[in-house]
Amino acid sequence: MTTRVWDYLGEYAEERTDILDAVNTVFDSGRLILGNSVLGFENEFAAYHGLPFATGVDNGTNAIKLGLEALGVGPGDEVITVANTAAPTVVAIVEAGATPVFIDVREEDFLMDTDQLAAAVTPRTTAIVPVHLYGQCVDMAPVRQLAVDHDLMILEDCAQAHGARQGGQIAGTMSDAAAFSFYPTKVLGAYGDGGAVITRDKAVHQNLRRLRYYGMEEVYYVVQTPAHNSRLDELQAEILRRKLRRLDAYIAGRNRVARRYEQGLGDIDGLSLPATNQGNTHVYYVYVVRHPARDAIVEAMRAHDIALNISYPWPVHTMSGFAHLGWRPGSLTVTERLANEIFSLPMYPCLPEAEQARVVEALRSVIAAL
Ligand SMILES: Cc1ncc(COP(=O)(O)O)c(C=O)c1O
Repeated sequence: MTTRVWDYLGEYAEERTDILDAVNTVFDSGRLILGNSVLGFENEFAAYHGLPFATGVDNGTNAIKLGLEALGVGPGDEVITVANTAAPTVVAIVEAGATPVFIDVREEDFLMDTDQLAAAVTPRTTAIVPVHLYGQCVDMAPVRQLAVDHDLMILEDCAQAHGARQGGQIAGTMSDAAAFSFYPTKVLGAYGDGGAVITRDKAVHQNLRRLRYYGMEEVYYVVQTPAHNSRLDELQAEILRRKLRRLDAYIAGRNRVARRYEQGLGDIDGLSLPATNQGNTHVYYVYVVRHPARDAIVEAMRAHDIALNISYPWPVHTMSGFAHLGWRPGSLTVTERLANEIFSLPMYPCLPEAEQARVVEALRSVIAAL
């Protein structure tokens, strides 16, 4: 049997009654678009974060795009972010009409190197998009300080960090607005696509309502500025409502899996396990490890029928789709080195212990035989 990097079927087996009840609730409600389930989920998701406003949208990419637009970011603006991220972070910035400006990540945690922020600011910079990658938060104090010093907006990319914390604060509450993805693999995942933007700013919230709905005022059916159709679906919203009640349990499950990896793999020379920064709680969206012989390991693990993933094998700034931005290989040295050395082990809350033990055993023997 192949061990997959992620699987939802075990979770579905446990939650089937609730998920199917969610489906029936929506189908019986008589309202399939922007009804009580979207509204209910938005209120509950905002409350989970202790914020007044959440807007459900159709996916995480559009959550970033609409979030930036709602903050007033657009053509002519530069947005500072990282290239060690999922391509959609950068796609969304480009789609909003702005120009991404990359800084490198840190060797220790693979997150935004905030020491490089100040040098990246130009007169055109209007926003920063810190990406809370893999399940823990970027060090937000320097990001916030820079934003104050230069009058910049911050939009947190929380696609991989639902429920992660830094100090007393939860990911998504340390900025002007924060974007979430509910792609099925995520820590809070839908049974299809979904996304949301949270904010404490009423004007930003009102912008988001218009931007996801053609540019219409929902009440008056009048378009002032043509925008997008980016609504969250009722069905996904109702499923997400049910799953939000279990989010803390999913996070605890992912942490249990992480602890078992630490016990099973912590003593292997040359293999670096994820480091959690002081003050952070990690939600382990993915369990990313590092080894200089990555390609040989990934290849050998296939023979054990164990799938590994690489997040991400090609740094965004080296992709042909972004060549027009003028970044060249060699410009972000840590990001580029990591892309050759990192890989992720199977990680999801209900990963069976026996399967995880098989992963540990296989990885130990593969690395010993290098
Ligand atoms: C860091 C990050 N940002 C943005 C996205 C985009 O989310 P979605 O796939 O829901 O559009 C993802 C998910 O793929 C992601 O991991």
